[in-house]
Amino acid sequence: MFREATRQMRVRCACPCSCVAKDASHVVGPATWERCCSPSAGRQVASPRSARAPEQDSLAQVATGNQAVFEDARVVREFIGREGWLDQGELAALLSVAPLVRSEPVLDIGVGLGRTSSLLRMLTDAYVAVDYSTEMVRMFREIHPDVTISVDDARDLSSFQNGSFSLVYFSDNGVDAIDEMGRKQYLAEARRVLRNDGLLIHSTLNKQGQNYGETPWQLHHPGKPPDLRPERIAQWCWHNLKDPFRAVRRYRNFFASRGAASDAGDWAMYPMSAHDFSIVAHFVTVTRLRSELEEAGFDVVAIYDSPSGAVIPESATRSDTPMFYAVARRRS
Ligand SMILES: C[S@@+](CC[C@H](N)C(=O)[O-])C[C@H]1O[C@@H](n2cnc3c(N)ncnc32)[C@H](O)[C@@H]1O
Repeated sequence: MFREATRQMRVRCACPCSCVAKDASHVVGPATWERCCSPSAGRQVASPRSARAPEQDSLAQVATGNQAVFEDARVVREFIGREGWLDQGELAALLSVAPLVRSEPVLDIGVGLGRTSSLLRMLTDAYVAVDYSTEMVRMFREIHPDVTISVDDARDLSSFQNGSFSLVYFSDNGVDAIDEMGRKQYLAEARRVLRNDGLLIHSTLNKQGQNYGETPWQLHHPGKPPDLRPERIAQWCWHNLKDPFRAVRRYRNFFASRGAASDAGDWAMYPMSAHDFSIVAHFVTVTRLRSELEEAGFDVVAIYDSPSGAVIPESATRSDTPMFYAVARRRS
């Protein structure tokens, strides 16, 4: 299976350096060509079943499908009542920038129903939120009638002028709903709306973490032992009792979206269990996370591990954190 995935990546190769490229992602631009010729080229992260080499059209369709999921009233309701930071990684990332952006203009992208609004409004009065889901924004306005929000897409922030913000925040892996090309557009837009030396934080899923390669029949996360704590079992029973069609929905969504999975080596798109496998999410390795930020004109300040809030060392080429919190500074 692994050999098959690698073979398909080679077929997709469009590298102008005439080597046998092993990383299909280099089709997107010259900055990545050299990676397929570098000594580390060819290092692959094992692919779950059915992940193929990426094709731009199908990736764009995946991103469109993900956007539709966030318009679904059932999914929107899942965000009601969320408050506070999600984990130590988010806390550490926000604390690290707090002294630098206090009372400064902040843009909160993919705000959902506003979990991060209270956190960021404690830092500043110049707070603006956006989300591309009209349903999220409609409900957000009911919950927070006094907060400025608009329907805007991270990939097109043309509602905002150059250099408008000191901090751009895109939390809870919202960025992973968009495809590789969209990710580049988002990074370019985030850079444009940030002032010189402005800060960007986003959380993003780790391709070497426990959420990559999930299935509806898993008894534990990939690479982790089964979680048989009584509270976890009780939670599982409760979820399925209160919503007896949950399991059916999860299997149906998984099989519908699995065909859209793709693997480019250091990034991939794969269904994840959140929202019953309806989202095909983007995953990156820590190495790729650093290089994509640098290629987009940012200096990486720190990358935090999500459960512990520890800084992942700059030299690390692997991490098993489920997701990363990247803090980056706009290069002038
Ligand atoms: C996982 S939810 C998180 C919501 C909220 N930030 C929270 O932490 O509770 C991701 C949110 O990002 C939004 N989103 C995803 N891609 C987006 C994009 N390209 N532009 C704007 N919003 C986006 C979704 O509509 C959704 O509300």
